Amino acid sequence: MTSFGPAYVALYDMLYSDKPYEAEAARLADLIRAESPDARRVVDYGTGTGRYAQLLSAHGFEVVGVEPNPHMLALARARDTTAQFLPLAERDQVEGSDVVCALFDVVSYMTDNSTLLDFLRWAHSRLPFHGLLIFDCWYGPAVQTQGPERRWKEVTQKDRHLLRLTSPEHRRDDCTVLIRHRVLSWERDRVLGDFTEEHLLRYFFAHELRLLLENAGFALSTLGTLQAPTTPPTVGNWSTLVTAHRR
Ligand SMILES: C[S@@+](CC[C@H](N)C(=O)[O-])C[C@H]1O[C@@H](n2cnc3c(N)ncnc32)[C@H](O)[C@@H]1O
Repeated sequence: MTSFGPAYVALYDMLYSDKPYEAEAARLADLIRAESPDARRVVDYGTGTGRYAQLLSAHGFEVVGVEPNPHMLALARARDTTAQFLPLAERDQVEGSDVVCALFDVVSYMTDNSTLLDFLRWAHSRLPFHGLLIFDCWYGPAVQTQGPERRWKEVTQKDRHLLRLTSPEHRRDDCTVLIRHRVLSWERDRVLGDFTEEHLLRYFFAHELRLLLENAGFALSTLGTLQAPTTPPTVGNWSTLVTAHRR
């Protein structure tokens, strides 16, 4: 399966140019200060092209972004920011952190328990007692109630156009959704790209999140949304925001 290949990564920032990263990073900064008032160092795990890392750094945190995908990492490193970026294989260079976050579906890309537990245990190994873990993931009750749908998204920037057609295959027994993206890009009359990618994402339920977190040495604090971190999600919330503290 190809996920985040070079052609997709080259279009990633354009594809998500409508995502309100600034407002979300401001909410995250508020959440970090509320939960962990002395927090200074933040790891942004699965940092992608580094947008949250750049913004959290502008909010005054010392940020290290960790990313397995070399194409993503190259774009993150090209940002004008004091945040630092490391390949996943070098994550142990991070000696310690006050907060570890994984944002915008990173945890839903961890479709097997061993990958997720490896992440949680690594986060545990870097955090102090009561250190803060924040991540979002797809919320099972919402995905099962709403059901994934075929969608399309069009983005235009000057003469450049991008069209992404999304066809999901709901694998209910596995609590995953295989998403096939066909991406077309063109400039005026010239086709720049036409390719397909598959992304497998997992959704989670509250009991399993609690169990996975406990297994890795964390206590679940809140299950909510980025807009309202302490208000429990409903079947209307496709994504849930989880906060947990290291025990
Ligand atoms: C939707 S992107 C989000 C990127 C970034 N956090 C953002 O908000 O733009 C999902 C990211 O998860 C990363 N990812 C997937 N599996 C991962 C894993 N096992 N460990 C760390 N990162 C992973 C991908 O490389 C990709 O950068």
